[in-house]
Amino acid sequence: MKKVHDNLFDGIIALPSFPVVFVTVKSNIMVAAAFHFYSFKPPSVMVGIKPEKYTYELITSSKEFIINIPTKEQLDKIHICGTISGRNEDKYQKASFTPLKGNKIDSYFIEECPVNLECQVVHHIDYEGSHKWFIGEIKEVHIDENYIRDDALMFWLGQFRTVGGIIEGASNDELLKKG
Ligand SMILES: Cc1cc2nc3c(=O)[nH]c(=O)nc-3n(C[C@H](O)[C@H](O)[C@H](O)COP(=O)(O)O)c2cc1C
Repeated sequence: MKKVHDNLFDGIIALPSFPVVFVTVKSNIMVAAAFHFYSFKPPSVMVGIKPEKYTYELITSSKEFIINIPTKEQLDKIHICGTISGRNEDKYQKASFTPLKGNKIDSYFIEECPVNLECQVVHHIDYEGSHKWFIGEIKEVHIDENYIRDDALMFWLGQFRTVGGIIEGASNDELLKKG
């Protein structure tokens, strides 16, 4: 039997996990779980950033960002980049990450992450709410040939998880045309 909850935030708590990513802009890194694909054509993704974050300022002024997909082995670096502000700290140094300059945009991406998506901001959703969403069109894609999609990290409300097994559909190798 279902119950109606008076607390509407329970609807947010009930949500499953989201992929957690590093968002890099210029020379800074932050962590975001408010991340989603937006469109197949043109290939676009979206990321939700709280306005008080340094990254928000950087995306607003540069109109670009890079999505870096971590592996589950990089959890310690998630904690570093997801708690310290880059206003006065160099998070590439703190997390021992290597910055590489984007090919299509002027920001750096993380060499140690197996996937990097260089994005140009095409829209900014300024609707009232805790997070402001930036839609980014993908301009360049870097994928490590040994990338394992199942190594991704999922997160919601303090819980980190790995992804589960496939119960229907193509294998990861078929999707990324490795097979
Ligand atoms: C697992 C995890 C998920 C997070 N998700 C978001 C998010 O989606 N949006 C956001 O604005 N902050 C998020 N944060 C917080 C920022 O990553 C954190 O405040 C960071 O220090 C901001 O860095 P900056 O001030 O250099 O931009 C998350 C942190 C963690 C650890």
